Amino acid sequence: MDYITIKEAADKWGLSVRRVQTMCSEAMIEGAIRFSDVWAIPENAKRPIDHRVKNGRYIKTKEDYATPILKWAGGKTQLLSELIPRIPNSYNKYIEPFLGGGALFFKLCPAKSVIADSNPELINMYLTVAQQSGCVIDYLHNYKNDESVFYEVRAKDWMQCSNIEAAARMIYLNRTCFNGLYRLNRKGQFNTPYGRYKNPIICNEAKINAAADVLRKAEIVCGDYLDVLGKYASEGDFIFLDPPYIPVSEYSDFKRYTKEQFYESDHRNLAKEVDRLVDLGCKVMLTNSNHPLVYELYGKYKIDVVQTKRNINRNGEKRYGEDVIVTTY
Ligand SMILES: C[S@@+](CC[C@H](N)C(=O)[O-])C[C@H]1O[C@@H](n2cnc3c(N)ncnc32)[C@H](O)[C@@H]1O
Repeated sequence: MDYITIKEAADKWGLSVRRVQTMCSEAMIEGAIRFSDVWAIPENAKRPIDHRVKNGRYIKTKEDYATPILKWAGGKTQLLSELIPRIPNSYNKYIEPFLGGGALFFKLCPAKSVIADSNPELINMYLTVAQQSGCVIDYLHNYKNDESVFYEVRAKDWMQCSNIEAAARMIYLNRTCFNGLYRLNRKGQFNTPYGRYKNPIICNEAKINAAADVLRKAEIVCGDYLDVLGKYASEGDFIFLDPPYIPVSEYSDFKRYTKEQFYESDHRNLAKEVDRLVDLGCKVMLTNSNHPLVYELYGKYKIDVVQTKRNINRNGEKRYGEDVIVTTY
């Protein structure tokens, strides 16, 4: 039988090293053996169930909360502390048609939601994780953080893969490529180089399972935001719009998510759609860069400027910038 270290098991299960060590000592991990000071865990050991029950109530731990599966350019994790206080107290459905990594969606875990993106590979990944997370996890275990494996996997056409392989491939490339950047060349092929990270977590089972639980409750759609909103938005819905930003710096690469780009005319059409949604009785929250066009398009709504960290420049360095949050309610 092959064994792994506590650190490897912790990464695999999305638990802290300390927690896995405690669980070994408490005989909660089947087959774990101790050699002098060091624990060895069977490679095929099941993730232990970690119900921390206090006074008869289950205490949620970090790994019970859903967070984005992918690192995504323009991801809103950094901005959650600004977004959450602005969310309406009550609403019917949650709709997020520029989903990307879905930071706000995973944070809210809404009971009724429609989530969508125009990137078919991304949507296949979410649909497959929702329906077959165990198979995606099993597939991910086939991959290694190795440059030649990376380029071999990258060279595959995801459309020729099974849904499970395509989903696992997308997660693998995202964890091991440079900066987690999703970039396609003119032919629509993924072309971000290998990231050279020492020990990236390729398969965080806890994260994938927690995300799958939330995704299963959502309607997941692939399509253009106008079609999605036209079909699903109705009175009382809360709509979060996080489109590709209007570029403010020479390094901005936000337009290269899919083969299609998001131009100024698209921002103008989006503003018209926001007006339509407001007339329909929806509450809309929108984010963008702090650019003059935003004031021209959304001047009649509330516009707040907030500080944000960005790390999408060429050197992967963090820089501070300003975002705006527009709310129509
Ligand atoms: C800024 S990202 C969203 C980031 C996301 N809020 C997060 O937390 O990770 C914008 C997303 O819009 C998608 N997108 C671009 N043009 C679109 C369109 N016309 N319709 C729907 N989605 C589009 C891109 O594929 C990308 O995933």
